[in-house]
Amino acid sequence: MKVINLGIGYVGLNTAAALAWIGHDVCGVDIDPAKIEMLKSGKAPIREDGLDDLLKQATHLKYTTDISNIINEADVVFIAVGTPSLPNGHANLEYVNAAAKTIATTIMPTHDVTIVIKSTVPLGINAAIERRIRAFVAQRGGDVSKLHFASNPEFLREGCALSDTFYPDRIVIGTDDDVAFKMLSTLYAPLLDQSFAIPPSVPAPANRPKTQLLRTNQTSAEMIKYASNVFLALKISYINEISGLCEKLGANITDVATGMGMDKRIAPYFLKSGLGWGGSCFPKDIKALLQIGGDYGYDMPIIKAAWDVNENQKDRVVRQIQDELKIVCGKKIAFFGLTFKPNTDDVRNSPAVDLANKLIALGADVVFHDPVGLTNAKKVYADDAFSFADTPIAAATGADAIVIATEWKDYATLDYAEIKRVMNTPFLFDTRHVLNAAALRNIGFTYRDC
Ligand code: UGA
Repeated sequence: MKVINLGIGYVGLNTAAALAWIGHDVCGVDIDPAKIEMLKSGKAPIREDGLDDLLKQATHLKYTTDISNIINEADVVFIAVGTPSLPNGHANLEYVNAAAKTIATTIMPTHDVTIVIKSTVPLGINAAIERRIRAFVAQRGGDVSKLHFASNPEFLREGCALSDTFYPDRIVIGTDDDVAFKMLSTLYAPLLDQSFAIPPSVPAPANRPKTQLLRTNQTSAEMIKYASNVFLALKISYINEISGLCEKLGANITDVATGMGMDKRIAPYFLKSGLGWGGSCFPKDIKALLQIGGDYGYDMPIIKAAWDVNENQKDRVVRQIQDELKIVCGKKIAFFGLTFKPNTDDVRNSPAVDLANKLIALGADVVFHDPVGLTNAKKVYADDAFSFADTPIAAATGADAIVIATEWKDYATLDYAEIKRVMNTPFLFDTRHVLNAAALRNIGFTYRDC
């Protein structure tokens, strides 16, 4: 099928690359000419496992800034632009609206076309966009009976976005329109029956369950996306709250989470306690859902509490560091990890940065190491009081504490005896449970986790 992906960010680019691999003719469209030029020259503007290799082999994937030449050949047009938070917490829909306007002003359908919103949008926005595009195209004399609409939320995680796209747990198609449903089922058929050639750079996870297809109406599909992200954030906040009590009582949170996760009703995923959740999705989606509830006079105390627990988690870590170092002012604290999670170079809304700022406010000097995030961090946090070190050992030299702030595997295999030797005091706070506590204590570290 001929597919257009409007918006070539994390969601758009990974989706486009995967759809092209499974045999569709895909064109990625973006308003950013620099991004399009970069992609045309074979480079990915984001770091994602397997993406560079996939793009090199993507003969069915083209890019343009101008949709008008290609839109009338397309069978499926995805809107996959960002919906960041507005200052009041509502989702900012300016990019979705702009994408919808671009479609409405260029499309003149001669065959069935399905327009699909993949961006995370508040409830009712799919229907509103559909009404606007239909009205505009009708005004321009177009045949609106050939236009079809669906909501198709994405569930991909940064860092394993391609794996999540090729091997999804479920595909949700929100539409009352049978033509739209049929077209999207055909588009996704190779993923649903896993009949495509496995890309060497994105191997299939072991023992993965069959992908499920769920058809709902547009509003339910929109809600599935918000409710899923918020539930995952809530699960993390829950384990972080339990971890605080474990710390007081002497229980081991890793063992507690393992024991809980063995119950298949609970499952072991998203039960890792630590610095809390960050990134560009959970915070914005929680805020948006609370705002949607607020618009309808509907209070959601559990979701509010999940937010508060996440904020307090960083203060809890600060208190534990104070407990150990006593005076934080003037101390050097080395952060191992800056990105909001491992396997990405995305440094936005990173809990590591929040924690660092709290320690800086208390007078600490913070130096960051990260295996891939430093280039972005130096741009995004140019005005912050952070220092950056190219190696873990350089960051640790003269430090009074190391905070493992991102779950990078790289940090598990360092020579900690050597690191201890260059530190001022051997205190290590493993907020992401990547190290072996007993081994660290054996070589003389004071080890804490959360
Ligand atoms: C999240 C969802 O997991 C995706 O399903 C969704 O499609 C995506 O948002 C989106 O809306 O686009 P993402 O933000 O990329 O994906 O990353 P996650 O793996 O969910 O991690 C989010 C945060 O939670 C990270 O800061 C991570 O370190 C933290 N986390 C995760 C924990 O603290 N503990 C855990 O057990 C798991």
